[in-house]
Amino acid sequence: MTQTAIPRPVITTDALYERVRHAVPQVEWQASFADDAAAIMALKQTRNAVVLAHNYQTPEIFHGVADVVGDSLALAREAQEVDADVIVLAGVHFMAETAKLLNPSKTVLVPDLEAGCSLAESITAADVRALKAAHPGVPVVTYVNTSADVKAESDICCTSGNAVKVIESLGVERVIMIPDEYLAQNIAAQTGVEVITWPGHCEVHERFTPADIRTIREENPGVVVLAHPECPPEVVAEADLAGSTAQMQAYVEQRQPATLALITECSMSDNLAALHPDVRMVRPCAMCPHMKRSTLVKIRRSLETMTAEVTIDESVAARAREAVEKMLAIR
Ligand code: 13P
Ligand code: SF4
Repeated sequence: MTQTAIPRPVITTDALYERVRHAVPQVEWQASFADDAAAIMALKQTRNAVVLAHNYQTPEIFHGVADVVGDSLALAREAQEVDADVIVLAGVHFMAETAKLLNPSKTVLVPDLEAGCSLAESITAADVRALKAAHPGVPVVTYVNTSADVKAESDICCTSGNAVKVIESLGVERVIMIPDEYLAQNIAAQTGVEVITWPGHCEVHERFTPADIRTIREENPGVVVLAHPECPPEVVAEADLAGSTAQMQAYVEQRQPATLALITECSMSDNLAALHPDVRMVRPCAMCPHMKRSTLVKIRRSLETMTAEVTIDESVAARAREAVEKMLAIR
């Protein structure tokens, strides 16, 4: 799984700019980002803090101040390894909750408490209890894009990067797979396991259509199209490959396609383009408003004020942690 640990020496603003120069014009860096980035680097030292950033974070966060970047799975794995007192999770709330579940004694901060997710908001713990009552004995596989309350009602978690392995590890013919209907349908098609699902959707990936991909192909002969499995199955069917954001990155690193279209969130293309300037990116962009709530200004404020701290009631946390740890034990 792709993840990048960036060393944390004290770093000058010029050296910091070197990290982002492929993605951010110098004039924009100086005017909008340099002060906050320098302050964040200093605060990380003072607080003994690390910044974990999801692949959908903007380039000045992703390439500039993050210590670890990756997909949901890599961030959860790395959260287990972190040697720091404070974790700032530049991403959305459920990711910070997962980091907190795995680090109960550390301070986990999220730059904006309102950074939610349409999938996490689509289902409650009571909904899961009702599903279990309707399908007794059927294991519940819960996407990490959920609250700790929902994870606590689940047998095991999964991400888009390991869903096939997680489902196959159960050795059953039927699972309840929540809350992403499209991910569940896409994974069912790969595993042959019957899924009972839930009508949750990612508000970013549900917007793409098969016609979008056909147009991209017409306009860009030879283009390689990679789609996130949160997209509807008919969109995935038009793509060359479906995979998590880390699997997309691994594909580009290994195959270096001449022309590439990523059917996912906008910053993914920006961040990968900076790493692979020779790959021509077609950018069928869809922005996640929740991911975009993280900014350098808010990360700086988080570290200055030590807010917003993520807390989880221990009666919920113990059960939710078990579901996440079971997932992480699958390699
Ligand atoms: P991954 O990075 O795990 O592929 O997930 C994408 C996503 O939408 C996270 O919210
Ligand atoms: Fe949630 Fe979709 Fe945004 Fe990911 S991209 S955080 S799944 S709304």
